[in-house]
Amino acid sequence: MKVLFVCLGNICRSPLAKGIMEDKIRKRKLHAWVDSAGFEAYHVGQAADPRSEDIAAKHGISLKGHVARKFTMQDFGNFDRIYVMDTMNYSNVISVARNEKDMSKVDFILNELHPGSNRPVPDPYYGGRDCFQKIYDLLDKACDSIANEIASQ
Ligand code: 4NP
Repeated sequence: MKVLFVCLGNICRSPLAKGIMEDKIRKRKLHAWVDSAGFEAYHVGQAADPRSEDIAAKHGISLKGHVARKFTMQDFGNFDRIYVMDTMNYSNVISVARNEKDMSKVDFILNELHPGSNRPVPDPYYGGRDCFQKIYDLLDKACDSIANEIASQ
């Protein structure tokens, strides 16, 4: 199973989701591959936001080595599932889908917890540290659900 997490800048939410998911994959010895990408080019080439690094480190997860990249159309072919964080990410990704199959791979990550409700993982970029704790908790629960699905396959 190849899973891609997508947010806007690829420095806050999706690198954190990737780090959390990789930790679960390692601990549960799952067969899966994870990556993250963003839709905007603002931060391409940059490390994860220090606030995401800090909240991850608090939970024993390192985001060191992250290099922000843009989502590409090829990602549809390279991944089985593409999880977005919010409505803007969803519209952006769907806008470059080539066909129905591509579209069927895309879903809101919080639909793992609240199916079909399309709730957002709030953009924490202009928020405080408490926002990063909140998104960590949301992403951790959603990644548990994804890990359970991978384990049951
Ligand atoms: P992310 O957060 O999409 O979770 O990585 C953001 C990072 C940067 C910006 C917005 C959101 N920005 O406007 O530069």
